[in-house]
Amino acid sequence: MLVLKFQHMKGVIFDLDGVLVDTAVYHFMAWKRLAKELNIDFTESDNERLKGVSRMRSLEILLELGHISASEEEKKLLAEKKNSWYMEMLQNLTEDHLLPGARSLLNYLKTNGYKIALGSASKNARFILMKLGIQSFFDVIVDGNRVVNAKPDPEVFIKAADDLGLPYRQCVVFEDSLAGIEAAKSAGMKVVAVGNQDLLPGADWYIQKLTECLG
Ligand code: BG6
Ligand code: MG
Repeated sequence: MLVLKFQHMKGVIFDLDGVLVDTAVYHFMAWKRLAKELNIDFTESDNERLKGVSRMRSLEILLELGHISASEEEKKLLAEKKNSWYMEMLQNLTEDHLLPGARSLLNYLKTNGYKIALGSASKNARFILMKLGIQSFFDVIVDGNRVVNAKPDPEVFIKAADDLGLPYRQCVVFEDSLAGIEAAKSAGMKVVAVGNQDLLPGADWYIQKLTECLG
């Protein structure tokens, strides 16, 4: 059981998209639609670079891929367009979109006295938690509205640990992105990567699914 390995930890900080909920695919679909409109060739492997980073930084990476330059005003409009498509898809979100093992892990951690935080780059995080009906598990929520510096900067995780009142070395982070793993490591935290080691180097432990934590 992976959870036994972090018995001496006091806090668990979860990334949201791609860790607790299957929204990573919606992000990809919305970026892909924008890329098509802008005539940018955008693959799933390009999309890995967008995971974990802010909406604006994601757009900038997409524009870089297409060698397109845009003014701040144009970028704002493009990011809003992508977000409106993404939000259309979010309307259909239900508890069924929680990734396998998410609810049982949250339950286990809560009953075993761990403090739980959300550390997400998303500005839609609270809406998503509400749709999933899991907001009451979280002692602290740090989302894209509360951070200035996007992952790989550690700000989001530092704020989460500070708000929990815990030392960074007593926090473990669950992440599915390279930027997030880098952020957690530079905050001095342990990291469980959800995904493959070759795509996500640098984590302390690897799982394919959250179900493995209690299995
Ligand atoms: C992260 C996603 O969780 O949130 C990124 O991995 C996304 O792909 C970022 O760009 C910002 O999300 P939002 O919902 O504010 O556009
Ligand atoms: Mg993620």
